Amino acid sequence: MKQSIGSILKAKNNRKLTMITAYDALFAKLFDDKVDFILVGDSLNMSFAGKEDTLSATLDQMIYHTNAVCNGAKNTFVICDMPFGTYTNETDAMKNCVRVFQETNANAIKIEGGSSKAHIVKHLTQNSIAVVGHIGLMPQNFRSEGGYKVKGKDEANTAQLIQDAKDIEKAGAFCIVLEGVKEEAAAQITKAVNVPIIGIGAGIYVDGQVLVWSDMLGLFEEFKPKFVRQYINGASIVKNAIDTYINDVENLNFPADAEKY
Ligand code: KIV
Repeated sequence: MKQSIGSILKAKNNRKLTMITAYDALFAKLFDDKVDFILVGDSLNMSFAGKEDTLSATLDQMIYHTNAVCNGAKNTFVICDMPFGTYTNETDAMKNCVRVFQETNANAIKIEGGSSKAHIVKHLTQNSIAVVGHIGLMPQNFRSEGGYKVKGKDEANTAQLIQDAKDIEKAGAFCIVLEGVKEEAAAQITKAVNVPIIGIGAGIYVDGQVLVWSDMLGLFEEFKPKFVRQYINGASIVKNAIDTYINDVENLNFPADAEKY
């Protein structure tokens, strides 16, 4: 059954939430009615489009993929990641999020940023856009920070992250993704707010976990972040299947009688 914002909020301190990314209807259907939410992450720019980072994902691409996911996952709460540069001010953020809400069936959008983005979260939520925040390691800062940097390594940074979480909660975000943060800091951030904190590379003391689907299924081979658990080795399963197919074709084992008209 599709979660509501109310049921997601109630899960805090009661049960752990699960989120997975998806980019198409095929996989979204496999994940449907299982996880609490599906995120159409701008990580699709890397694993799906083969780019080095998420920064060149466009709003049109996110809308296309969000539609595909909504078509496949009719019983799951779907979140569309707003791509880099689409929410730098309140007017643009509202215009772009309205497009997502009007052109897809997404239930919420996600934006990266803490205290400095709280006014944007407030503007969106006051205008009927449900917002998931994203703080800690923010992949859209990949170029400005010169790489992916783990956060919450010292007291000052942890205090800033707690403030970030509090500010976007106050602004109306109903859930916050916390990425690439030391476990002890993540535990403090999780305790500091009443909305669920969904961790990725943030240890176990959070309210739920999110993984990128192609990472957890072992399909993305470029690199494997430390926090990723591969539940199957998808790449070798696919490669073995392709080798077997080629072999069957070359040896006239495919098609067999039952596969002919
Ligand atoms: O884009 C994405 O897939 C994300 C997750 C890593 C949380 O933002």
